[in-house]
Amino acid sequence: MERVYIFDTTLRDGEQAPGFSMTTEEKLQMAHQLARLGVDVIEAGFAAASKGDFDAINLISQEVKGSTICSLARALEKDIELAAQALAPSEKKRIHTFIATSEIHMKYKLRMSPEEVLERAKKAVAYARKFTNDVEFSCEDATRSQRDFLYKVIEEAIKAGATVINIPDTVGYTVPEEFADLIEGIRNNVPNIDKAIISVHCHDDLGMAVANSLMAVKHGARQVECTINGIGERAGNAALEEIVMALKVRRDFFGGLYTGINAKELYKTSRLLCRITGSFVQPNKAVVGDNAFAHESGIHQHGVLANPLTYEIMSPEDVGFPSTRIVLGKHSGRHALKSKLKEMGFEFSEEDLDRIFEKFKALADKKKEVYEEDIEALVYEEFMKHGEEEPIKILHYQVQTGDKLLPTATVVLTFKGEQKTASSVGNGPVDAIIKAIQKALNLEPTLLDFSIKALTPNTDAQAESRLVIELDGVRASGRGVDVDIIKASVNGFVDALNRALVRKSYILSKENLRKEGTV
Ligand code: KIV
Ligand code: ZN
Repeated sequence: MERVYIFDTTLRDGEQAPGFSMTTEEKLQMAHQLARLGVDVIEAGFAAASKGDFDAINLISQEVKGSTICSLARALEKDIELAAQALAPSEKKRIHTFIATSEIHMKYKLRMSPEEVLERAKKAVAYARKFTNDVEFSCEDATRSQRDFLYKVIEEAIKAGATVINIPDTVGYTVPEEFADLIEGIRNNVPNIDKAIISVHCHDDLGMAVANSLMAVKHGARQVECTINGIGERAGNAALEEIVMALKVRRDFFGGLYTGINAKELYKTSRLLCRITGSFVQPNKAVVGDNAFAHESGIHQHGVLANPLTYEIMSPEDVGFPSTRIVLGKHSGRHALKSKLKEMGFEFSEEDLDRIFEKFKALADKKKEVYEEDIEALVYEEFMKHGEEEPIKILHYQVQTGDKLLPTATVVLTFKGEQKTASSVGNGPVDAIIKAIQKALNLEPTLLDFSIKALTPNTDAQAESRLVIELDGVRASGRGVDVDIIKASVNGFVDALNRALVRKSYILSKENLRKEGTV
């Protein structure tokens, strides 16, 4: 029985997608959870892309045990050196180097001849081997590459020391049968292919990333690159939870292949990513969506009660769906909170836990029952605050409103350390405070979506705001939670703005790399 290795790229390809950027602290939380989930490899970032990426890979390399930690690197010595430096503290490290092999990429993006690309690939792999024995090589845009050239590059990369050969469907162009044929072609035409593991990396532009990956596995690929909730560039990458559950539920079809994933951690991992990024999966999302196990029709309910196998091919427990959401109350102690947090996928130092416990006590004094959603919200607020430096910080605000008053708000905030004050009127109190914040910052984001709802069904519930904004072409989502709906709105708006600003600087650093001509 053979194993299929799961290579998670949520923190690299996933994080590259608009609205999914994460702070270093958030990436570390995610990486701990990915290790608990049992992924074989965590691609923690692209060390040369930005200082933020480098620092996150370095921190994850120091703190996360169990999984191999990997950094992406272009086929350039300086990228490979940075990847090696960032990964230095990890017990198990992989350098993942890549170069495009399709004619369109070589001609228009790289402006290199096929011979030059071949040389560059060989050199990069051999150089990466100086730092680690675990080197992965990717032929970017493999599915649109000329077959004989692709075979040659793979053969030479293996000769130079690559232990994993990754076949990306970079633009989500292929279809299952064609991809199967490509994998077969590689197995039959690359003489030394048995010296490397074949990996696949599929994008979802035509909605076939999971199907293509599974078909490749059926035809001999033994590593799948994927992301939690399928996040990633454009339409995303293959969804890890779908790959893992398809292999598990249809083990009969896949010839007994297995992964090292602890499926009971899937829901928790998906949920953690949603909380961190503020971007939630649709209710009908396979495996982890809120409705994935909901049976609405009477006939289905009756069948499931008589025997769950009538309508369930897997059970909610198999993927760790929680059965009840009421968890703690004001008499719960620090130990109960700690174990609940662990169960929910969070891991904190004792010092951080003290701070969270203090906030939990304050909340439990206001609310009779503290739900899982409340704890998630509280944790999120807490670790966002001491993550990467946030450009905007609200120091103080005041809102006046009433049925005979024109809603008026004043805000005092700091923007990149500089204090600013502004006032504004608005159609309502939320409108007034948001306008005041915009005035103080001299920024005019477009509000694309805004909703506010009670987290739990009581009158003492916390309110949760969710917003999507666009600032200078950069889209970001934000979320704020408080028992006061105005404060929840302010927190959500500032969260979205901070994410957009952080993402803007990230894009700028990526653009600089692009100008160098090799990304
Ligand atoms: O999609 C892609 O080609 C990639 C490579 C860098 C592996 O993400
Ligand atoms: Zn990709």
